[in-house]
Amino acid sequence: MQKIAFVGFGVVGQGLAEILLEKKQILKKKYGYEYKVVAVSDFTKGSALDQKGLNLSKLLKLAKKGKISEYPGAKTGLDAVRTIRQSGADVIVEVSYTDIKTAEPAYTHFKAALGAGKHLVTTNKGPTALYFRELAALAKRKKAAFRYEGTVVAGTPVVNLTGTCLAGNDITEVRGILNGTTNFILTSMEKGKSYEAALKEAQRLGFAEADPTADVEGFDAMAKVIILAKSLMGADIGPKDVKRTGITRITLKDVEEARAAGMRWKLIGKVKKTGRGVAASVRPEKVAVTDPLASVGGAKNALTFVTDLLGEVTIVGPGAGRKETGFALLADLLAIDRTAK
Ligand SMILES: NC(=O)c1ccc[n+]([C@@H]2O[C@H](COP(=O)([O-])OP(=O)(O)OC[C@H]3O[C@@H](n4cnc5c(N)ncnc54)[C@H](OP(=O)(O)O)[C@@H]3O)[C@@H](O)[C@H]2O)c1
Repeated sequence: MQKIAFVGFGVVGQGLAEILLEKKQILKKKYGYEYKVVAVSDFTKGSALDQKGLNLSKLLKLAKKGKISEYPGAKTGLDAVRTIRQSGADVIVEVSYTDIKTAEPAYTHFKAALGAGKHLVTTNKGPTALYFRELAALAKRKKAAFRYEGTVVAGTPVVNLTGTCLAGNDITEVRGILNGTTNFILTSMEKGKSYEAALKEAQRLGFAEADPTADVEGFDAMAKVIILAKSLMGADIGPKDVKRTGITRITLKDVEEARAAGMRWKLIGKVKKTGRGVAASVRPEKVAVTDPLASVGGAKNALTFVTDLLGEVTIVGPGAGRKETGFALLADLLAIDRTAK
């Protein structure tokens, strides 16, 4: 029986809780997977801890009202670190917000979880991108799992795919569309919308934040490139090592000219092994329409792995979303459960 504590209970946390609830019977029947959610700690919604297990339907109802601390009979008022320490959980699901400059408060949560020998499952790019080596070493020392599938293109398998199905290959290059918002904007521009109108539409549909900087200037894709470089290629790089350009200077004229030449503009995140380490970049690139990445439209994401044994392998799928990202966490929870058996 896996005992789970959530740190952060917003879109993704609740998405995972809904999946766990809906699939409880099938997960037990098909995979022999059983779980108990023992604690949740969220910044404004409050916290609840009961080592006997919290009822997920009740928890989700309270979370929607922003009143987790009204969970009857549970210990309440605990911040994230005290929740990690007192919960008795063996897995911490860290789904608080991403800060790509400081990685806090998640970095503190990661260290508290792994330092206490608890498995850590996350979709949070901040600490994973900035402190990957240190966290992986801490996890190893404490014999705990550190799993982060959902930090790169949500539940579309990347980390787990390369770690299992592509194991044995030398992955020499990874390139792809790592940000759905910018791909949505560029695809809208191909239909004749200006950059400004396409961004407004992305904001109206909930793909883009009110402040779209992290997406349109390539910071979000940069964090994913760093995670890929560190985890797939063992490279020791940080934000200053990634050549980063956003999409804000792409004009309708550029899009038209590319179309006339049989090309499409895409914001491409790339990391490539070189003789002296890796070269990493995020920038708009013209991609030939025959390239699998060119046909990936809207908010979809895609990655091409260049391997020595299999050649090029491309995976296409969602890069965000409540259930889509919740699934990444589920895949990691199931993987931890499998290795424990
Ligand atoms: N949404 C996606 O499609 C997606 C896809 C891939 C990766 N991610 C990553 O997954 C993580 C969660 O995303 P999300 O969409 O669920 O974000 P979200 O809806 O904003 O949820 C984050 C939650 O964390 C809580 N939180 C903030 N500081 C905290 C603290 N110190 N202790 C405990 N809880 C704290 C927030 O609380 P309050 O709001 O109540 O203050 C909020 O409920 C982020 O790191 C994000 O980058 C998201």
